[in-house]
Amino acid sequence: MEFNIKSGHPEKQRTACVVVGVYEPRRLSDVAKRIDDVSGGYLSSILRRGDLEGKIGQTLLLHNVPNTLSDRILLVGCGRERELGDTQYRKVITEAIRTLHETGSMEAVCYLTELNVRGRDTAWRIRHAVEAAHAAIYNFDQLKSKKNVTRRPLRKIVFSVSSRRELGIAEQASREAQAIASGVKLVKDLGNLPSNICTPSYLAERAKSLCSLYEKLTCKVLNETQMEKLGMNAILAVAKGSEQPPRLILLEYKGGKKNEDPIVLVGKGVTFDTGGISIKPALDMDHMKYDMSGAASVLGTIAAAAELQLPLNVVGIVPAVENMPDGKATRPGDIVTTMSGQTVEILNTDAEGRLILCDALTYAERYKPDVVIDIATLTGAVVVALGSHAHGLLSNHNPLTNDLLNAGRYSCDRAWELPLWDDYQDQLDSPFADMSNIGGKEAGTITASCFLSRFTKKMQWAHLDIAGTAWISVPKKEKGSTGRPVPLLTQYLIDRCVKDGMPIATLAADDGSVDEEDGE
Ligand code: BES
Ligand code: ZN
Ligand code: MN
Repeated sequence: MEFNIKSGHPEKQRTACVVVGVYEPRRLSDVAKRIDDVSGGYLSSILRRGDLEGKIGQTLLLHNVPNTLSDRILLVGCGRERELGDTQYRKVITEAIRTLHETGSMEAVCYLTELNVRGRDTAWRIRHAVEAAHAAIYNFDQLKSKKNVTRRPLRKIVFSVSSRRELGIAEQASREAQAIASGVKLVKDLGNLPSNICTPSYLAERAKSLCSLYEKLTCKVLNETQMEKLGMNAILAVAKGSEQPPRLILLEYKGGKKNEDPIVLVGKGVTFDTGGISIKPALDMDHMKYDMSGAASVLGTIAAAAELQLPLNVVGIVPAVENMPDGKATRPGDIVTTMSGQTVEILNTDAEGRLILCDALTYAERYKPDVVIDIATLTGAVVVALGSHAHGLLSNHNPLTNDLLNAGRYSCDRAWELPLWDDYQDQLDSPFADMSNIGGKEAGTITASCFLSRFTKKMQWAHLDIAGTAWISVPKKEKGSTGRPVPLLTQYLIDRCVKDGMPIATLAADDGSVDEEDGE
């Protein structure tokens, strides 16, 4: 879909549809009022008749509105004006885009980006409008023989800003949003693919193929033998039960200065998690195709960074394996020596995420990272603690925690901190090895992080547990991968550019010379 930013009067738009907001109860937004004025009270007479209350997400499509140049005008309910926050705004945009897509408007000019959203500015509104628009028309029908064809799909949408002065920032916001949205789409597609297609080697191929799109992106893939040489016995212990060979994907984006320490992202890439010999129950086991969502989010975020040409160095490390039970599989009680030299008693083969991550995190040290962030669908316990709204965040470095929490708030992809106190470390004690790979019934998300923390002592590190947020399984809602936390991570990278005093290369010059609307 094509996006544009524009400033101009609604009644003068020659387009298939102009989209404006109506608040509850039956109150016109500023832009709707303007159309009402030029049309001799056409909109207010319709509202008086009771056709639209203005409840959030309600829509009403009008044709031939007097004295306007567009074919249609779409009224969208915005709820009560004072209650218009982040969630409401995104819902309003989503409903508007869906309606446009389904009612034959192939292009539209949308004024909902001029609504007042509590505490948010133009850049934020444009950013989230573009992201929500992409999400609204996302559709995964690759594997259906009959595709969901929309007869006259929405192809081009113009988002409006109230003055020409805002065009520059709005265009930059739109570029960021489009990069994030394509990262999100990549993650959704990879997540939604079944495990017979999305294998460790498939993930590696997809990572490689990203490099042909971006000059500053390179990819290396290590195979089983190379991992053996490096002593990555924890990764290999998980891979042993599968016919699918493991891969270690190393994706490097070099947008920063040559010697600048990179930001390293490590993603859990379990392409299917049966639990191994500690096998999972049958119910909902198909959800475990999403157990590579952390890996996918690393690819999606790095692709977004490359798309935006961020002046940063970013490295992605993805251990990709399949966790299966087999004659060769690791048994509960087996002990392995990890790449770090520490030994682990694998008491539960279903706690495999931390096993592949620990070797990948040890490998991360080679890059002398500025910070390391790992992303993993690591524990069922985080779903109990935080549900499907917030990622679990645990870190050994407070400034990094704050940066990630802030990036999550701006991108509406929020994380919430859980404590990584030493008090929990004892739960990992093993009588036979340096540690066990499970920490008992209590505080499962924290003990999993405690395990990882033993491999990240030399680095500034944060862990995002995305087991509750990476996909939606509630039948009522749309099922499937969410693409999270690409928005959070990309925002973190964008913030890092500004913070380090480096301008974003693509930032458009905003001359600010024209104050009045252009009246188009
Ligand atoms: N991939 C799962 C975590 C998971 C479970 C994500 C359910 C989403 C929904 C992970 O590998 C796992 O099996 N974790 C175990 C750890 C336990 C054995 C200590 C869990 O959470 O039950
Ligand atoms: Zn898993
Ligand atoms: Mn598991």
